[in-house]
Amino acid sequence: MSILTIAMPKGRIFEEALVLLRKAGYKLPPEFDENRKLIIDVEEEGLRFILAKPMDVPTYVEHGVADLGIAGKDVMLEEERDVYELLDLKISACYLAVAGMPNTKMSDVAPRVATKYPRVAAAYFREQGEQVEIIKLNGSIELAPMIGLSDRIVDIVSTGRTLVENGLVEYERIVDITSRLIVNPVSYRIHDEKISELVTRLSKVVTKEGL
Ligand code: PRP
Repeated sequence: MSILTIAMPKGRIFEEALVLLRKAGYKLPPEFDENRKLIIDVEEEGLRFILAKPMDVPTYVEHGVADLGIAGKDVMLEEERDVYELLDLKISACYLAVAGMPNTKMSDVAPRVATKYPRVAAAYFREQGEQVEIIKLNGSIELAPMIGLSDRIVDIVSTGRTLVENGLVEYERIVDITSRLIVNPVSYRIHDEKISELVTRLSKVVTKEGL
């Protein structure tokens, strides 16, 4: 039996993706939920899972070391990798927004925007006709306007708690985000049948959830 390798994002999407796969009838052992292994084989299902940083999932899939992956739309927009999106899994819903300190205007000269998404942020402000300097950060983005590193941030808003608890406000909503099932184009041709079965089983669950 051929084996499909799926790149899973470690972190908050992981739990929801596991629930979805289990509801689709895939028997995933309990070791998924607790250990620190980075490669987990589920021989009975003919699946191998690799656990990657969310931002790296499309890289593994583009290079073909993973046939499939689960990646947020935010990551897809930022990474622009050569992969196909097969299914909107409708999990981990959130959105990308511009935020900052309340009642503040962007500086007239060289306004700065801190973000984990430099490409998305640059494209957004370009479309708005605003010239900004992008400052790339890897996390805790909300710190930047609080300590004067930037005028604005472009970041994920999920519950909105991080903004509220740090006294920041949302200025514009850029794009809605959910997680997607992605595939390497060559793998898709080679493992057509098995991948189609996975997509069918997952879409049934996604539709049933009515999200
Ligand atoms: C994300 C995002 C926000 C926060 C939003 O950060 O960057 O900081 O979650 O969630 P909320 O609206 O529910 O508060 P994450 O926890 O992934 O960590 P990071 O700061 O290291 O990016």
